[in-house]
Amino acid sequence: MAQLINGKQLSAQVLAQVAEDVQQLTAERGVCPGLAVVLVGEDPASQVYVRNKVRSATTAGIRSIEHRLEASTDQQTLNALVAQLNNDPEVHGILVQLPLPPQLDEAQIIAAINPEKDVDGFHPLNVGALASAQPGLVPCTPLGCMIMLQQAHDDLSGKHAVVIGRSNIVGKPMAALLLQASCTVTTVHSRSKNIEAICRQADILVAAVGRPEMVNADWVKPGATVIDVGINAIERDGARKLVGDVDFAAVEPVAGAITPVPGGVGPMTIACLMKNTLTAARRQLSVSNLAVAVRHA
Ligand code: GUN
Repeated sequence: MAQLINGKQLSAQVLAQVAEDVQQLTAERGVCPGLAVVLVGEDPASQVYVRNKVRSATTAGIRSIEHRLEASTDQQTLNALVAQLNNDPEVHGILVQLPLPPQLDEAQIIAAINPEKDVDGFHPLNVGALASAQPGLVPCTPLGCMIMLQQAHDDLSGKHAVVIGRSNIVGKPMAALLLQASCTVTTVHSRSKNIEAICRQADILVAAVGRPEMVNADWVKPGATVIDVGINAIERDGARKLVGDVDFAAVEPVAGAITPVPGGVGPMTIACLMKNTLTAARRQLSVSNLAVAVRHA
């Protein structure tokens, strides 16, 4: 039987710590961290994510400001909103929910966000900071996965970590964080050969591809730690169900530790967004960062 890494419980701990630190910041500096969440259009999954983010912000004592724009919004309008949020001293974190409607250029919008307010960690400056082990803001899902891994391992050093998937949001930053933790890191993706055999060598297996129950027992070394980033809605026996990228029932008896779906990585992502908002607010308030704040004003 594998150890279950409980994301629901762990995320509540992270959120409670953030709430305590937010209170302290407010008491000491008279400032409440503010998170602006921008949602363009009516994608149902995005609406659920945004609702959960706003709810967790409330739990953490973070002021959240929601901006909902029509699906037909043009680049200029979205850029103007981002510029306004960049210049608003009460907004410490900006999150533009992805995906954006096709007429909008995601890369350009991400690059327009003040990197100090980029709580998603998607801005090229933050991507570069992570790649070169400099301080910056780290994408929420990989950050949450690292906290979960620390639950199962005292030391990650020297472990072989295999990441399935090479997305900018999860796969690439996840590999960078594992490398920083001194793992031997392999990334496999849709064009990789012998994926199954490579995965079977992993001490740590992170699945982030968006393919329902792709990873089965044959892919997993006995005793390995399995982190399932996938959240896939499927229909089974006439009912809608959420499953991960890992076939949980098949893999759980083989793994040493495993995250469930739901209740695994999902809640950790949102808790880490609040952690990042607090980090961003602290940095923006620190005197040493005044020059940077002025430069972005
Ligand atoms: N869409 C799916 N995941 C994410 C995320 O982590 N951040 C944003 N902004 N959009 C997403």
